[in-house]
Amino acid sequence: MDLPKLDIKAEILSNTEVGPNVYEMKVTGEALARQAMPGQFVHVRIPAGMLLLRRPFGVANVDDKGTLTIYYRVMGKGTSAMTSLRSGETLNFLGPLGQGFSLHAKRPLIVGGGMGLAPLLYLAKQLHGAADVLMGGRNASELFWERLFRPYARDIFLTSDDGSRGEKGFVTNLLPRLLSQESYDCIYTCGPEIMMRGIAKIASDHDIPCQASLEKRMACGLGACLSCVCDTTKKERKKICKDGPVFWAQEVFAAD
Ligand SMILES: Cc1cc2nc3c(=O)[nH]c(=O)nc-3n(C[C@H](O)[C@H](O)[C@H](O)COP(=O)(O)OP(=O)(O)OC[C@H]3O[C@@H](n4cnc5c(N)ncnc54)[C@H](O)[C@@H]3O)c2cc1C
Ligand code: FES
Repeated sequence: MDLPKLDIKAEILSNTEVGPNVYEMKVTGEALARQAMPGQFVHVRIPAGMLLLRRPFGVANVDDKGTLTIYYRVMGKGTSAMTSLRSGETLNFLGPLGQGFSLHAKRPLIVGGGMGLAPLLYLAKQLHGAADVLMGGRNASELFWERLFRPYARDIFLTSDDGSRGEKGFVTNLLPRLLSQESYDCIYTCGPEIMMRGIAKIASDHDIPCQASLEKRMACGLGACLSCVCDTTKKERKKICKDGPVFWAQEVFAAD
């Protein structure tokens, strides 16, 4: 059953740069934090000039004091404006939106890259330390996520494109080796689409269920405007904001 969406005035507790061009924002939002499931997102109204559309961000953590955390990379007008917000100011948050991850796995592997690691952080927390995490980034400084995942992960495996941290290459280079060493029963992934397609293919080759969180530009975030529609492998049209953002990989990525 879908719970009603909350439209709250969230007070900013902190808004700090934690990685290259990546900010961590913590806000108060007790009711929203209580409802949010890993993989769901919040739709944020940014009080900046002519910005009409909200901007979506994955729920990256909640704590029992009702604090909700998001991580955002500065991309354009909205996220640039967010960097100048100070603690004590308020922002309108709508959520939690969309369908999150299914948490059934007993021996999960989380695979993420770039900002895709944000919603996976809350997933790792809710898997109560059972998950191994494979994360990739361009270089060592993009892998600041390791520190954030450490309290929630069993083992962490790293790759970087330039070899400055972890194994040189992409997560898709290391993944087959991890799958040959350990019997994972579900792979959870979020990140660049090309990476998730590669993960989905490897998961399918190894007969391991895989869930992927998709991203597309969104307007309403509520399933009404159809701006986020994607085609499934069965040629159905799904709304990423309402039917997703999390899908079983075989639903959205062809196995070949
Ligand atoms: C379900 C969902 C969850 C997301 N979670 C996060 C998150 O946790 N952290 C985070 O940093 N970002 C996340 N994003 C992406 C984030 O919403 C966009 O980066 C943000 O809306 C950009 O706003 P802007 O006003 O700064 O950029 P704009 O000025 O609107 O655009 C600047 C540039 O960013 C590109 N862009 C804008 N939106 C997207 C998008 N959805 N996907 C890819 N490129 C985009 C535009 O094409 C343009 O090139 C998520 C997106 C979705 C759909
Ligand atoms: S953003 Fe409007 S239907 Fe998905």
